Amino acid sequence: MSANDPHLDVINMWKNRQSVDFGYFEQVEPFAERFWNPVTTFRQWFDTLDTTELLEIACGQGRHTVLVPQGYQRIFAIDTSVDAIAIATERFKDNPKLTATLSEDGMTIPQLDSSFTAAFSYDAMVHFELMTMASYLKETGRVLKPGGKALFHHSAYDRNPTGHFTQSPHWRNYMTQDLFAHLASRAGLRIVDTVSFPWSDEIITDALTLMIKPEV
Ligand SMILES: C[S@@+](CC[C@H](N)C(=O)[O-])C[C@H]1O[C@@H](n2cnc3c(N)ncnc32)[C@H](O)[C@@H]1O
Repeated sequence: MSANDPHLDVINMWKNRQSVDFGYFEQVEPFAERFWNPVTTFRQWFDTLDTTELLEIACGQGRHTVLVPQGYQRIFAIDTSVDAIAIATERFKDNPKLTATLSEDGMTIPQLDSSFTAAFSYDAMVHFELMTMASYLKETGRVLKPGGKALFHHSAYDRNPTGHFTQSPHWRNYMTQDLFAHLASRAGLRIVDTVSFPWSDEIITDALTLMIKPEV
């Protein structure tokens, strides 16, 4: 862990094969029901997105990318893990509509303004620093087309504001629903719906938020 860059601490957990939690990708690969089963809020809200041009933030080795229902023209998936992106690139090689791209900074989206109809991120932003989230929300507001929606699975763990994410349940970083709403509004995004929930115990640690970039 670095004492002075918690943003990099999150990235470094999965950066390459030697990283502390790189084994997570293989471990969770078979577990996607929670996100994609038709009865889940994740799936029901996902189905409201226009996925024609879809951005995925923190795709890992592409567990969710490959489960996006057909109908998209392109999915641009980004992640900071060198080796997970290498695996995703190999995995997507027979589908020219899927691109896996290594993020240089873990904060910005190397794409033009108004270039996506939707964005999503599952099982990753729960770990991100507040300032990382501020940047990704701002970037999402920039790259979405007017009328485009974003669906982000993020932290709602409000109990350890000064702690390191590895000290909190399920490695959830500090975030509150109010702070998220504030950051989304400053990014030009309006919240359509949001729900907070426990991950696997009674403590509220997670949230799912559906946002829209209003038409001007
Ligand atoms: C728990 S894994 C989940 C990966 C994938 N979403 C999944 O569900 O299989 C968290 C992912 O977030 C990525 N990550 C960490 N910090 C990041 C950042 N600042 N920007 C983009 N990706 C990041 C990691 O490399 C890792 O792939």
